[in-house]
Amino acid sequence: MPRLGRNGPESSSLGLGFWQAGSRLWGYKNVNPATVKAVVDTAISEGVTLFDTAEIYGGGRSEELLGRALKPSYTPGSIVVVSKVAGFRVTENDVLEAARGITRRLGFTPTILLHHWPPPRWTDLCKPVRGLEEAVKEGLAEYYGLSNYGEQHLEKALECSRRIEPVVDQVQYSLAYRVPEIALKKLLEENGLALMAWSPLAKGALAGLREPKTRVQARDPVFKAASRDNELQDALSKVAGRHGATKAQVALAWLIAKGAFPLPATMKPSRVKEYAAAQKLRLAESDIAELDRASEKYVYKWGAGYETDFMKITGVTPALLQKLFISLLGGI
Ligand SMILES: NC(=O)c1ccc[n+]([C@@H]2O[C@H](COP(=O)([O-])OP(=O)(O)OC[C@H]3O[C@@H](n4cnc5c(N)ncnc54)[C@H](OP(=O)(O)O)[C@@H]3O)[C@@H](O)[C@H]2O)c1
Repeated sequence: MPRLGRNGPESSSLGLGFWQAGSRLWGYKNVNPATVKAVVDTAISEGVTLFDTAEIYGGGRSEELLGRALKPSYTPGSIVVVSKVAGFRVTENDVLEAARGITRRLGFTPTILLHHWPPPRWTDLCKPVRGLEEAVKEGLAEYYGLSNYGEQHLEKALECSRRIEPVVDQVQYSLAYRVPEIALKKLLEENGLALMAWSPLAKGALAGLREPKTRVQARDPVFKAASRDNELQDALSKVAGRHGATKAQVALAWLIAKGAFPLPATMKPSRVKEYAAAQKLRLAESDIAELDRASEKYVYKWGAGYETDFMKITGVTPALLQKLFISLLGGI
């Protein structure tokens, strides 16, 4: 099994995302815990050992559902559970308090704790990083990492980390969002961090979904671009046809071939099987070149460096306001 970064744990080459579990935005607010258990059990039986959640997903509900589903089969070392303290946690104590809440909701300590997004521009980025280091020292996680830290934020975070190195940066990366290839990937490689890819299917568009089914898809410019991109959809179909695979499997196998750990999401056990099979799909150099060509436009389309639309807002919004807003929403 591959290792997450230079010093991280071993994990399957693909993981499952659990933002959807308990999420109002995705229409899964009242998802049956038995459904989440079926998704988790299918994943484990298909060789998936990496699971991703966050304290803000469903206001903590995602962690509760994932923890409950995993607990019977969970032994440290066999499964990698990633959770994230919110980016509005900007002091060491706040990060530690959030880490304790994560352990309480999961029912066990996560394997890796991430800072979900960088703090506002004027805030000392070293404080949450030190909080994560302290969380590892206190046994509230085995490892720590970052999420949505672009080139500049990552460089700063690496300067701050004194005793323990981060093992991963979880960022948006897919055939329809190739911004990490501009500079971030190189920096991650040089510093021994794994790249975990969120929205690896551009919220379903790279699986062939042409019309949004939820507001979260309808509002996503990457979903919009990929779902209408005939050149990219044709390339996915052609490569999928050659391998007897689905478009989703091709989009995930492309990410694995690029050295990333994709985190696709679903609340459907049958789709988990489809995603997991992408781990065995070996794309030829010519397949990768064809997909690269059809998605070349997405290297620079979204900006000259890694900064998602969400980060443009959180970068200039005081942490307390962010916290208030997300709390009022009951999480995302
Ligand atoms: N760190 C961060 O800031 C961050 C941000 C976003 C996400 N994430 C993580 O990454 C995970 C995945 O990202 P994501 O949720 O944005 O989406 P994604 O994995 O790119 O797409 C998942 C969606 O694709 C749909 N889909 C797949 N195959 C389909 C098909 N054949 N036809 C129609 N729809 C299909 C699924 O629908 P069904 O639900 O119907 O199966 C699901 O809703 C999240 O769960 C979360 O853990 C992290």
